[in-house]
Amino acid sequence: MCGIIGYTGILNAGQIIIDGLMSLEYRGYDSAGFAYFPDNNTDKIEVIKSTGKVCNLENKIHENIKENHPLCGIGHTRWATHGGVSETNSHPHSSGKVTLIHNGIIENYQELANKMAAKSKYPVSQTDTEIAAMVIDSYYNGDPYEAIKNACNELDGSYAFCIMFSDIPGCIFSIRKNSPLVGAVCDEGSFVASDVVAVIDYTKEYFILPEMTIAKLTKDSFEICDFDGNEIIPEIMHINWDIAAAKKGGYDHFMLKEIHEQPEALLKTIAPRIVNNLPDFSNDGVDDSLFTGLSRIVIVACGTAMHAGMLGKIMIEKYTRIPVSVDIASEFRYADPILDENTLVIAISQSGETADTLAAIKLAKNANARTLAVVNVKGSAIARESEYVLYTHAGPEISVASTKAYTVQLAIMYLIAYRMALVNKLADESVISLKISGLLDSMDKMKKMLEMDEELYLITSKIKKADNIFYLGRGIDYAIACEGSLKLKEISYIHSEAYAAGELKHGTISLIVDNVPVIAFATQDNVYQKVISNVVEVRSRGAYVILVTKAGKHVDTTLCDHHIVLPRMDEEYTPFCTAVVLQYLAYYTAIRKDLNVDQPRNLAKSVTVE
Ligand code: F6R
Repeated sequence: MCGIIGYTGILNAGQIIIDGLMSLEYRGYDSAGFAYFPDNNTDKIEVIKSTGKVCNLENKIHENIKENHPLCGIGHTRWATHGGVSETNSHPHSSGKVTLIHNGIIENYQELANKMAAKSKYPVSQTDTEIAAMVIDSYYNGDPYEAIKNACNELDGSYAFCIMFSDIPGCIFSIRKNSPLVGAVCDEGSFVASDVVAVIDYTKEYFILPEMTIAKLTKDSFEICDFDGNEIIPEIMHINWDIAAAKKGGYDHFMLKEIHEQPEALLKTIAPRIVNNLPDFSNDGVDDSLFTGLSRIVIVACGTAMHAGMLGKIMIEKYTRIPVSVDIASEFRYADPILDENTLVIAISQSGETADTLAAIKLAKNANARTLAVVNVKGSAIARESEYVLYTHAGPEISVASTKAYTVQLAIMYLIAYRMALVNKLADESVISLKISGLLDSMDKMKKMLEMDEELYLITSKIKKADNIFYLGRGIDYAIACEGSLKLKEISYIHSEAYAAGELKHGTISLIVDNVPVIAFATQDNVYQKVISNVVEVRSRGAYVILVTKAGKHVDTTLCDHHIVLPRMDEEYTPFCTAVVLQYLAYYTAIRKDLNVDQPRNLAKSVTVE
């Protein structure tokens, strides 16, 4: 949450910061700010702030800086935690010679604020960040390293800072703890940012700033040292996706583009893990021993990633008969979970940064459980904390609502289930080989579903008027219903709930009245008739029913207002098609309501706070 970027070099820092903030806007978009040295030789830092989107800040920068473009600056796009949305609360914050931007939360800020007040320094904003600026400034006597080190020893919580000292023009200092920060250097200067998407226009080489080290950026150097002054050489990484992946590429929205990228993302995720038509994680360095001797598996994740975990549970239990539980990471971490060396904890996360999932995996490690991360972002915190990592290769997902990252997570869960079945000799190679063919084939089916956009668009004319919507399903379809409901709420702001279809009559059916939309998934043969009975129940109470089945089912047309037919396929793979249905329904409902699809209100893509 919150995107930060710093640049010092030979180019127009204002433009670089604005471009960078626009690519980081998915991390927060309620206000933005920019601080810069107006002239590299003066003892002065200027600050420009604006509420709302980064484009508001851009306008202000253009009004204020018409010539002598700055060569060094820091910029921030905010997702408010402490203090409401206002210019005063937006970053950068200054105290004395210090001006900084921050991503994270200073947990002991109140205590520190009291201490500062005792020294007759009072904050002007309601933010924890301004307190951090005050603490650093209180230790500053001309030595930035000492000031940062002493201040960080007092700060609890998570942070990534870009700091400028007014008497050190042209220079940016950075430090991070439990919040992401990457660095990059090229001929045009030095960069530090929350995400590589902000620097990819300039270089494809980057590094992750090691935690609790201090980086000093100048126009031609990027030096990192630890608290004892020892130089640290970071590991250089290479961005393995093209810059086009982070642009809209002709689509109206990132979400629509990312929905369409799914078959390709799936192929990129699955293909490198298929050897002789069998799942194989040796190129990922995941040892088969990870999958043996297990008494229990726990999947931890949040939101959409947790919904991928729900399907993972069904698949792993089906193929291994090992009990799997799916835990919401924010609950798991405080629930005193039962873990031991025979437990495998799988953390699923697109960003690899989600604070609760990160804490959950750390807890699992401390309890001696085995750990495996399924993450999309290379080198992210969750990947680094876990014993093993399986990267999903979705490429950058910019839209706040997750789509392609979800389906590639599903694919990895399927591969894990199949590999575990093989390793534990619970299924023959011939059986698993057929499963892999089915999985690969589902990508073609998914392509067919992508062509159903017009049909699904038409259906949303009714949905967009609803106040409440219900998603129903059983088994695999219940997991899909949960994701469908979340996606719709998230971007269309319509209240919806997902129900296990058989559970509705234990209370919630009282909410079904004339014209309440019910989206029922009935793709699983063993419970098909049961779901249809549940559809009859809601239909007889006036529900407006959208029924999703596989091809080949004879459906009584009086049962539903719309019948969405998936291609003929093995029921195990229907999630790759029903995912498209739920994504299109959410997307087109939001479009019809003229909402900001890619940046829904109150949300941010990376949830790095609890
Ligand atoms: C919803 C969505 C969120 C994320 C959740 C976890 O569309 O994207 O529910 O799935 O915040 O994020 P990651 O996967 O980054 O841990």
